[in-house]
Amino acid sequence: MANRMIYFTLGFFLLICCYTHNVMAYDPDPLQDFCVADLASKVVVNGFPCKAPMAVSAHDFFFQGLRQPGNTNNAVGSNVTAANVMQIPGLNTMGISLVRIDFAVGGINPPHTHPRATEILFLMEGELFVGFIDTNDTFFSKTLEKGDVFVFPKALVHFQQNVGHENAVAISGLSSQFPGVQVIANSLFAANPPIPDSVLSKAFRIGQKLVERIKAKFM
Ligand SMILES: *[C@@H]1O[C@H](CO)[C@@H](O)[C@H](O)[C@H]1NC(C)=O
Ligand SMILES: *[C@@H]1O[C@H](CO)[C@@H](O)[C@H](O)[C@H]1NC(C)=O
Repeated sequence: MANRMIYFTLGFFLLICCYTHNVMAYDPDPLQDFCVADLASKVVVNGFPCKAPMAVSAHDFFFQGLRQPGNTNNAVGSNVTAANVMQIPGLNTMGISLVRIDFAVGGINPPHTHPRATEILFLMEGELFVGFIDTNDTFFSKTLEKGDVFVFPKALVHFQQNVGHENAVAISGLSSQFPGVQVIANSLFAANPPIPDSVLSKAFRIGQKLVERIKAKFM
């Protein structure tokens, strides 16, 4: 009898642990139909405070900004156009958002992470080489054809490169209203204030002159 009680108690705590862990790992669930972000509010909370429900309209759930391709005439040959809570206040507390990614021929969406979201990419046009690296440094990659889907698990480093002979365009869903992005090269070589050369030199096992040359590329 006492044994059963112990197993029961253990099981109960395991359940609570798993449940709590799961809840903490994603954007919090909504506690009402919607909580349209009041982006102008001075109140600082996790996410945004809700607009008064009477002031909410269809416009708060609508966005035309993905109609046009982003301009890919830049150093990486790609452009990510976001459709998250900053563009669509109705996404506040919904745990979901989109991006449109345009690629010139040879363009790359360079290695980056989304600290708060898993990403599921749908390739609408073109051909992409995509991949992510797990915490064991295993590289998972695929070449995608038009219509294919690939998943980038939450917070893992990933990239996409256009390996086709025409422009490519993809749409990604992300499991956060505001996934966040850290582009690895920029974080390290274009930080403000700069990361000391000595740190990057030791980390990359290269001379400080080379660190300076890389940093100069990001000016
Ligand atoms: C992405 O495209 C938009 C719209 O054309 C443009 O305003 C923006 O500067 C571009 N971003 C980059 C990084 O090229
Ligand atoms: C991590 O990588 C090593 C070496 O490639 C492999 O032996 C090990 O099974 C991997 N572990 C996991 C959890 O993938």
